[in-house]
Amino acid sequence: NHLKKITIAIDGFSSTGKSTVAKMLAKELEYVYVDTGAMYRAVTLYAMRKLFIKDGHFDKEGLIRHLFMVSVKFQMNAETGIADVYLNGENVEREIRTLEVSNFVSQIAAIPEVRKLMVQKQHEMGKEKGIVMDGRDIGTVVFPDAELKVFMTASADERARRRYEELKAKGDEVSYEAVLENVQKRDELDTSREDSPLVQAEDAILLDNTHTNIEDQFHILLQLAKDRIYGR
Ligand code: DC
Repeated sequence: NHLKKITIAIDGFSSTGKSTVAKMLAKELEYVYVDTGAMYRAVTLYAMRKLFIKDGHFDKEGLIRHLFMVSVKFQMNAETGIADVYLNGENVEREIRTLEVSNFVSQIAAIPEVRKLMVQKQHEMGKEKGIVMDGRDIGTVVFPDAELKVFMTASADERARRRYEELKAKGDEVSYEAVLENVQKRDELDTSREDSPLVQAEDAILLDNTHTNIEDQFHILLQLAKDRIYGR
């Protein structure tokens, strides 16, 4: 019942609440939501389980050789109404959210062979449009022609505080300092890597949500999306 299906790219720093607003937007527009960070996290989990990452040592070449054996897919979860990520047929939605995975994922996401494979899958999922995709390079590399691009940011302190509360609520025993360190380290790695670094696309709308609540952000983005869908 939409006049037009568009592509919505939401990029930004970690723990800015990208996925929360992206999910709300997808639900409202009856669009497909894709969490591309979950894809890089799933590959990271694979590398950890197959011991390509062990005791702080990372066998990058080994992982690259085994990439053809890694299947990352999404499947709808009837309970949440959102797709969960599957690694080689196993639902790993929970396992990929640990601090351990978070600490390694930027290294995995920096590997061009991994990115190439994930971007291929992302193109496939977005080819019919009607999609909200969140990540780091969606508006710059994956869908440079997206009709709506948003770049989300917030202060590192605020982002660490949010992530800390989230992990604590799940029962993870972590310190705020460890979470802040992870957030800062990932910012550094994500923005400085060679292949598809985190950078605001020229035509992306900047949304700093250090002091804006989710509801307000959602309404801002919904309006922007509708403007594009209805061509106002
Ligand atoms: O959004 P997230 O925190 O779940 O993402 C996990 C990591 O994956 C993040 O540190 C950077 C990387 N990533 C990426 O390089 N490109 C994307 N499109 C999405 C995530």
